[in-house]
Amino acid sequence: MNYHLSIESSCDDTSAAVLLENKVLSNVVSSQIEHQKYGGVVPEVASRQHNINIALVVSEALAIAGINKSQLKAISVTQGPGLLGSLLVGVSFAKSLALALDVPLIGVHHMHAHILAHFAEEPYPVFPFICLTVSGGHTQLVIVRDYDMMEVVGQTIDDAAGEAFDKAGKMLGLLYPAGPLIDKYAQLGKPVHDFARPLIGDYDYSFSGFKTSVLYYLKKNVADNPNFIAENLYDLCASIQHAIIAVLEKKLVKLVRDSGIMHIAIAGGVAANSGLKGRLEELAQKYGWKVYIPDLKYCTDNAGMIGVAAYYKLIKGQFADQSLTAEARLPF
Ligand code: KG4
Ligand code: ZN
Repeated sequence: MNYHLSIESSCDDTSAAVLLENKVLSNVVSSQIEHQKYGGVVPEVASRQHNINIALVVSEALAIAGINKSQLKAISVTQGPGLLGSLLVGVSFAKSLALALDVPLIGVHHMHAHILAHFAEEPYPVFPFICLTVSGGHTQLVIVRDYDMMEVVGQTIDDAAGEAFDKAGKMLGLLYPAGPLIDKYAQLGKPVHDFARPLIGDYDYSFSGFKTSVLYYLKKNVADNPNFIAENLYDLCASIQHAIIAVLEKKLVKLVRDSGIMHIAIAGGVAANSGLKGRLEELAQKYGWKVYIPDLKYCTDNAGMIGVAAYYKLIKGQFADQSLTAEARLPF
């Protein structure tokens, strides 16, 4: 039996999963709440928390899967991109465990894993497909031709979509990460406020103009009415979400038209957004796309997706050795 363990620690979630081939048997995620009071992830705090959590999270993943570590045939870990201190905790732990158990080590690219999370559960996307990866750190349009043949054709030149949610939410006084709360409140409001929807280049994204427009709009209205945000919270959330989705949609539709690829996947934390999922279903109806939306637990950072990506390296014998190092800016 090819049991393998995967570890993810690139940002503020400590996670470990046990897989049998590409089937996720356990997927334990310990999310750090310590960052909320700072309104964003504090790298030094994150790496210290990973250090505290990692052994416990790995033990729990093994226990839930009902196996002993001596049954593991490989260890995989997120090599990058991400916060260096955070990555180092996972990479060091994985290297030590692989060495102690004398099993192969597999380094995984975090953004490949977000995409390959689609192969955790059927229906699997059909190659080639387009993946819109929208997370707290990245926004990418990727053409995926095979498990190991992916090309980024567009990406953000400044903030990621998740960051746009989080920063706009912070302006509304919402706790970090604000994305899930904006999603919730947006369902109770209407997109009646108009925010900038910057469109640059062919398939690239930019959210800095949007962010500035939210800031100035709030400043102006709060000056007139100090209760403006509280009185309009739901509509503001709906408007922020609407603007972000409109920008994401525009470039996606263009890429589908230009490439002729009709199989569309979304990935990353923002793929959990109900407005984005709903809009994609509408576009699928309108244009005849086949849309793939992963289960919520595979959207946000989790070691299950690292294990799935590792499986496709495992079967090809693409192993790393003890010289593997964490890379904050690992190229795609
Ligand atoms: O992929 P992820 O867990 O971590 C990164 O690799 O960045 O994504 C986290 C991001 C955060 O910005 C968070 O606010 C956003 O995903 N997010 C959402 C939702 N759930 C998570 N944004 C909008 N709506 C959601 N439901
Ligand atoms: Zn991520």
